[in-house]
Amino acid sequence: MELTRPITVSKSKIDEIIDEDSRLTKLIYHYLLSATAWLIFGSFVGLFLGLKFIYPDWGNTAWLSFGRLRPIHTNVVFWGWTSLSMIGLALYVVPRTSQNRLYNLLLSRQALYVINLSVLLGVISLFLGINNGGQEYREFTWPVMLLFALGIGANLLNLYKTVAARKTREIYLSNWYILAAFIWTMVVVVIAYLPFYQNSLGETIIQGYYMHMGVGMWFTPLVLGLTYYFLPKLLNKPIYSYSLGVLAFWTQMVFYSLIGAHHFVFAPIPWWLQTVAIVFSFGMFVTLFAGTANFLLTMKGSFRTIAKSYSLPYILVGVIFYFLASGQGSLEALRSLNKIWHFTNFTVAHSHLTMYGFVVFLIWGGIYALMPRLTGNEPSHILVGIHFWFALIGLLIYGFALMIGGTLQGQSWIDGLPFINSVELMAPYWLWRAVGGTLMFIAHLVFAFNIFKMQPASNKDFVLETAEESV
Ligand code: HEM
Ligand code: HEM
Repeated sequence: MELTRPITVSKSKIDEIIDEDSRLTKLIYHYLLSATAWLIFGSFVGLFLGLKFIYPDWGNTAWLSFGRLRPIHTNVVFWGWTSLSMIGLALYVVPRTSQNRLYNLLLSRQALYVINLSVLLGVISLFLGINNGGQEYREFTWPVMLLFALGIGANLLNLYKTVAARKTREIYLSNWYILAAFIWTMVVVVIAYLPFYQNSLGETIIQGYYMHMGVGMWFTPLVLGLTYYFLPKLLNKPIYSYSLGVLAFWTQMVFYSLIGAHHFVFAPIPWWLQTVAIVFSFGMFVTLFAGTANFLLTMKGSFRTIAKSYSLPYILVGVIFYFLASGQGSLEALRSLNKIWHFTNFTVAHSHLTMYGFVVFLIWGGIYALMPRLTGNEPSHILVGIHFWFALIGLLIYGFALMIGGTLQGQSWIDGLPFINSVELMAPYWLWRAVGGTLMFIAHLVFAFNIFKMQPASNKDFVLETAEESV
């Protein structure tokens, strides 16, 4: 009997090409290209680190030691990959939703060079063992981070001026999120790098504040702001509720800035400060419900469109992880659960489920939504699918292995068993993490190829099918 149904849903080709200033298209592409190069390098280092848990004798030189490579991995994926790719997308979304041109193209191009230079110098110095001390995610020395801040500041100025000169009356929700992310990040970087109040426990409290403001006030609002543009745009309908978006925005701004101390539950910092952090970590469920409901209700009734699109599935996955993985964080903050999971690999699972499952998937959704429409060059649908499934399955293997292993690890410590017991029991989970990581890394190589395929033509000579665009 002949099969009538194909195994996979065939994806639709893009139905419009946006007539954008080709200089802006190139600028966005260069942001994405640099970001992708950092993703390949950063996740290769991540994979190597994962393999070190199985083959501890690998890379027995100082510059290949775990202590040097781990901050290289985290800083590269934070400042090189995630930041540059989100800024690249914001350079399109902010002018578009302001119905205006980008204020100063050259400024953002210079910022691109400066940020790339800062990440490059940061990596070289970390390889050489030169760092800012032991504090996580701020291992880059201050001159290096000053360069990064200059790049962020220049883009902030550019985007702010673009919104200020907007042709719409309202500031679209995306721009609230995007501008807030830039402003908070400037504040957070300054607080984290000023040395004079950071003595002993003061340093610990600032570290908690910095770490969580980094993930919660840079990556989270920036990527949510982008999604508030791409999701309704791709579905060709307005966002379900503007008010829910505003509620999610303000609770994010207020609650998130109070929860940094949940990184140091049971540490010798004031008990009340930990309690405040725990209460507001739980309060984040309000934000999560409001934000996720808004996205899912926007998608309601459009699941066929999602199945036929090759960018929307990434956004769907990102939204689901936004809720599940952040909600997991709210639970981790509770004293009863933190007791088991703190210091274990469970936290590493949470980091990747959030940063990767939520932030990175939404970024990929945005890139696949935008680039083909800007350049007229579509990637192969099969390859986009391979990228999607390898990344998703890899992440699930990575996440579940470390969630299960991390819980057993914590239980073994609570039971007072010899430390080596917890190392031995982790062996199969670390192996699974490496399997997941390998799939993720392969997905990144496929993504890099797709980025290459979506490059703008040197002369923009493709036919405009539909140039009419609205927010
Ligand atoms: C409702 C929102 C969230 C809450 C309440 C939350 C809570 C937590 C808690 C309690 C920890 C510390 C675990 C421990 O060390 O014992 C943690 C760690 C972490 N979270 Fe979240 N999380 C949330 C969302 C996110 C998001 C959206 C991201 C990424 C964009 C993220 C990234 C991280 C990272 C990278 C760490 C590891 C920090 C480290 O290196 O120690 N979290 N989170
Ligand atoms: C091939 C993909 C990847 C692999 C194999 C990988 C592997 C690793 C490993 C082995 C560590 C050290 C864990 C430890 O200290 O025990 C780590 C840490 C980390 N990675 Fe990745 N990684 C990958 C991709 C990414 C990406 C794309 C991001 C962010 C966008 C990311 C964010 C982080 C963070 C935030 C930490 C610190 C975790 C914590 O302290 O809780 N990783 N990664």
